[in-house]
This record gives sequence, C-alpha cells and structure tokens, in this order.
Amino acid sequence: MYSLTMMCLLFKERDLNTTHITREWKELAITLAEQGMSWRKIAKYLEKPKSSVSDALRQHYKGYVKPNRDLVGTYVSTIPSEVLEAEPSKEFQEKLLALETMKLDEVPVFNKNGVDMTRIQQGSDKIKKMVKMHKYNTLKGAIGKRLLFICDTQVKPEIKRDYLSWIGELIADKQPDIIVHAGDHYDFPSLSSYDKGKASAEGKRVKADIDAGNEGMKVLLTPMWDLQKQQIANNEEVYSPRMVFTVGNHENRADRFAEDNPEMQGLVGVDALNLEQFGWEVAPFLTPVEIEGVFFAHYFANPMTGKPYGGSALSMLKTIGRSFAMGHRQVLDIAIRPTIDGKQQIGLIAGAAYTHQEGYKGVAGNNHFRGVVMFNNLKDGYANLCPINMEYLELRYGTT
Ligand SMILES: [Fe+2]
Repeated sequence: MYSLTMMCLLFKERDLNTTHITREWKELAITLAEQGMSWRKIAKYLEKPKSSVSDALRQHYKGYVKPNRDLVGTYVSTIPSEVLEAEPSKEFQEKLLALETMKLDEVPVFNKNGVDMTRIQQGSDKIKKMVKMHKYNTLKGAIGKRLLFICDTQVKPEIKRDYLSWIGELIADKQPDIIVHAGDHYDFPSLSSYDKGKASAEGKRVKADIDAGNEGMKVLLTPMWDLQKQQIANNEEVYSPRMVFTVGNHENRADRFAEDNPEMQGLVGVDALNLEQFGWEVAPFLTPVEIEGVFFAHYFANPMTGKPYGGSALSMLKTIGRSFAMGHRQVLDIAIRPTIDGKQQIGLIAGAAYTHQEGYKGVAGNNHFRGVVMFNNLKDGYANLCPINMEYLELRYGTT
C-alpha cells in the first residue's frame, strides 16, 4: 500500500480518467476515513461527489461506519498540510476543544490506539489558534449567533442557477444559527410594470416565473437538506437553523397583480408562493423583523410617507436609529456608529446575491458587489460583518 503522501502525489499527477486513479482515490478515501476524517470532508478534499465517496466507503466497510474520533491524534499528525489549511470539520474542532481542556499530566503519551498524544499536547500554534477561534465562534449563548444574510437572488426562467448552489453549500458548510433571506428571490419579470406593453415583456409567463423561483429555492436549500438527511442517517444532531424570509418588492408584484385582478386572488400572490413549504418564516413586505437587536427588511421606508429611505448606510443608520440590514440596492455599504450608551450599531445594505447581468443596467451598472454577508457573533444589535462575494463562493463551492 502506498504511503499517504505518495498517494496524494499520485492522485494529483496522474490522468484522472485512468482506472488506476479510480482505485487510488478510493484507497486514499479509505486511508483518510481510517484516520477519523468525516466522509463529507473526504469528498471535499478529494474533490469527488459525496455520493461517490460514500458508495466507495460503504462498499469497503459493508455499510456506514462512524468516523472514529479516538483517532483524531493520527488525523492531526499525518493529515496533508493542505487539509489543515482548510477549515477543520466541526467534529474535529470539538475533539480539539475537548483535548484543550485536559491538563498536561492527564494526557497519556500514547492513547489506546497508539496515537502519540504528546504531539497534540505540544500543539502547533495553528491548532491552538483553531481551538481559540472555535470557542469564539461557536460557544452557544456565550458569544452570539451566526447569521447568514442573503438578499436579491433574483431568480427568473432564463438564468443559470449555480450561484444558488454555492450559497447553499456555504449554508451546509458554516451552518449559521439563523438564515435571513431579505426578499426579491422571485424576480417576476412577467409582472414588471416597467416592461408592460414593451417588446421586452413578450413571452413572459407568471407560471414560468413561479416555477423558476421554486426551482431556485430548491437549489439553494438542497445542500442543507442533504446534510440533514446524512445527519439523520448517522443518528447525529440535525442542523436546523431559524429561517426568515422578508418579502421584497419583486414578490410584492404578485400581490399587487392580485389586488388589480381580484379574480386571481389565491392563485397569484405572496401567500400562493407558499414559502413556508421550504421552512421559511415569512414577514410581509416592508415589515421589519428584529433578530438579536438588528432589524431586517427588504428596504426601510419612512412611516409617514411610505417612501424608501435613501442615502448611505451611515445616513440611514442615523435616521432609523437602530441596527438594520437590507438589500434592494445593488451595493455593499456597511456602517458602524457608536451610541451614547457605550454600544455600537451597524447598518448594512447588500442587495445583489446573483451572478447574471441585468440588461436594463448596462455594463457599468452591472459592475457592483455580488454576494452574501455573514453576521458573526451577532448579539445585542451588533455583529462582526463578513461579506462573501460570489467569486469566492464559486472558487470554494463551484464544480467547474
Ligand atoms: Fe428590491
């Protein structure tokens, strides 16, 4: 049998289409599984579909075998450096955390599996840092929530939807406590008042728009659903985030159409989309939802005039007076301001989580931030905001 390093080299250098390689990646998968790496992580490392890795390992083990967490020491000491460069799996981080709480004299030199535990105890700076970050990011309640903010996915019939799967993979990977989709997922070009009576409106159909939005929603949520199925099969705790959808002006087109055509009520409208079927709590158009002291809505409007607030995130923050996050405008604008009570407020505008070009915007108009924003340590109206652009998501989660 090849050494792990040798197999890594063989795997990288040979033609991927040869049968030798087919055998070798399976051998490497088995080696990594025997070192306690989760099957999901193995698939990611080998850049193979999860189903292929799962099939190969099930065939080898004659069924599913839980990763042996006692072998984490071997994992630490022999795992290829590029895997350590990547973010470690949750179970790996948990094991490291457990090890960190042990006192030096409690740690045996070798554990029952013959693993040299002193290597872990000495610990590289990288591992110590990972443990620290793990505590900082995941300790429930002690620090704050992790929330993924998505807005304006703008799904319509003719576009490619792979950007939705990248966001979905991010969800399954980072497992935020809360997901907020702030609306404009269903683009509804068929109901656009701007296009009405123009050549650009020809061939547009309401049903096609709804089908496209529903399909897009499935693409977005499938990685999470796959993860949940795997967790259920493995008898593990199932990831189930709170999911909040605030209706955008594009979905609201359907309600306006139903108001203008009362005979269509029940067939067309936000309620008819049945977003709840996907697990979303749905907030009506322009109704802010407060989560951990931050107000979320598609956009914010002056309560006296009903007109949207304009200006920068900072000027809006001063006007609204509370931490807020919205989409609708295709910019990335983040503001932070201290208040007299010693706290800090945040304002976020991030309204473009799609990759396609909008014809009406022209070349220069399409050149704007596209992506999502992770709220880390969300608590008491403040969070560390981390914008994640589409280019990064494609590199990390794209298949081509
Ligand atoms: Fe909008």
